[in-house]
Amino acid sequence: MATAVVDRPLFDVVRARRATSNFESQPVDEQDLKQILQAGLEAPSAYNLQPWRFVVVRDPEQRGRLRQAAFGQLKVEEAPVVIVALGDPEGWKSGDMEQMIAIGRERGMINDDVAETIRGNLNGFLGNPNGDVGGVDPGLSNWVNRQTMIAFTHMMLMAENLGYNTAPMEGFVESKVREVLEIPAHIRVVALLAIGRRKGDSKPYGGRFPMAQIVFDNVFGKGLKL
Ligand SMILES: Cc1cc2nc3c(=O)[nH]c(=O)nc-3n(C[C@H](O)[C@H](O)[C@H](O)COP(=O)(O)O)c2cc1C
Repeated sequence: MATAVVDRPLFDVVRARRATSNFESQPVDEQDLKQILQAGLEAPSAYNLQPWRFVVVRDPEQRGRLRQAAFGQLKVEEAPVVIVALGDPEGWKSGDMEQMIAIGRERGMINDDVAETIRGNLNGFLGNPNGDVGGVDPGLSNWVNRQTMIAFTHMMLMAENLGYNTAPMEGFVESKVREVLEIPAHIRVVALLAIGRRKGDSKPYGGRFPMAQIVFDNVFGKGLKL
């Protein structure tokens, strides 16, 4: 059943969100799930390259296996949906760059000159690994992580906006997640997002550091006062 909770002010959603420990088994409505995923796909990315991939895990047995790859975290099995966010460091050169150029062209965003500039820039920027760790370049791992977490956050906030609760997770063994979900070796597992309805009371707010300590004014270290 689709939720009636839509279009809450964004800051209300941001302030109300808590990482959820326990979930009811009630499924996530398919249209809501589609909207959550679409919100992620609308995220910005460098050169619009969209190097993210997502595996939506709803099958209870698969969630059970995924839980084992996530240090036994109960929420992975309890939540009706777990979105596994991935980053593909090689996608740009195996089709994504040309597809991005093609869709940009269709919308009048990209012409021949711009396309050539983009190809040159990306071959220079992404085609020169900063090192080698067995096929996954650490620079590009950071790069895909940077992009994918924005899409991930879009999804998390859209889910909250639609009245669901969420749990972001980094507690997993990447190689085990790859095995369970049949993910190719070159693809990075970035984070897991459990989505569903909270079971029990909301977790208390853990608080945040004060702005003046964290945000700086023109130079690093000089606290911004607003
Ligand atoms: C990237 C990321 C990874 C996280 N990984 C886990 C995790 O594996 N297990 C867990 O219980 N909580 C995890 N958390 C939840 C954090 O502990 C939680 O967000 C933080 O304590 C702040 O609480 P709040 O989200 O309720 O405000 C993660 C959060 C983020 C953003």
